[in-house]
Amino acid sequence: MSAIIVAIDGSAASGKGTLAKRLAAHFDFAYLDSGSLYRAIGVAVLRKGGDPTNAAQSVAAAQTLDIAQFTPADLRTEAAGVAASQVAAIPAVRAAILQFQRDYAHTPPQGKKGVVIDGRDIGTVVCPDAQAKIFVSASLDVRVDRRIKELRAKGELVIEARVRADLEARDARDSGRSVAPMKPAEDAWQLDTSALNADEVFDLSRKFVASKIA
Ligand code: DC
Repeated sequence: MSAIIVAIDGSAASGKGTLAKRLAAHFDFAYLDSGSLYRAIGVAVLRKGGDPTNAAQSVAAAQTLDIAQFTPADLRTEAAGVAASQVAAIPAVRAAILQFQRDYAHTPPQGKKGVVIDGRDIGTVVCPDAQAKIFVSASLDVRVDRRIKELRAKGELVIEARVRADLEARDARDSGRSVAPMKPAEDAWQLDTSALNADEVFDLSRKFVASKIA
């Protein structure tokens, strides 16, 4: 029996990660944060003193990726997010981790009967066969606010203009790249979370997913 796949795509700081984790816990599905793969590749390049926009360096990092080398704290910084967005624009980097993501989706760990994956191209490229697809968005102002709170809670020094500029640059790069650009799948449910809190986003999404996998 093939696994149930829930694809959650959307822009940076839209709340998709929080939502994906809660959905996975609720349905007892596995969870894969595909952004963390790109973040780990970007951080690996930076650790070697390299340049995440350099295709040869980034592809080498993707092909030798060992996710165990990175803690969540290594991956969740703003610098890691920017580097991730840069390596993610390189087609051969995406190709190097495509099969891993598909295998994870189709055969989730611990014999789980389903998986929730969040990213930018899960519903369009990685798992076009997903049973439920949600595309999460929020206005730039709301996302800047959310990202600032998240970074401050971790004790990072935050400059609002910098956070805004980084998010804008990432959105432009993630949706403007030639390969697997961020965009809603045709059959995705589009959820604007600007005026919703995390519980409201979860409740609406839980009902949507339940209706798709019943
Ligand atoms: O979701 P995130 O902020 O952790 O993702 C970091 C970057 O990785 C994002 O700016 C673009 C890239 N990414 C991608 O291109 N495709 C995915 N499926 C997930 C992330």
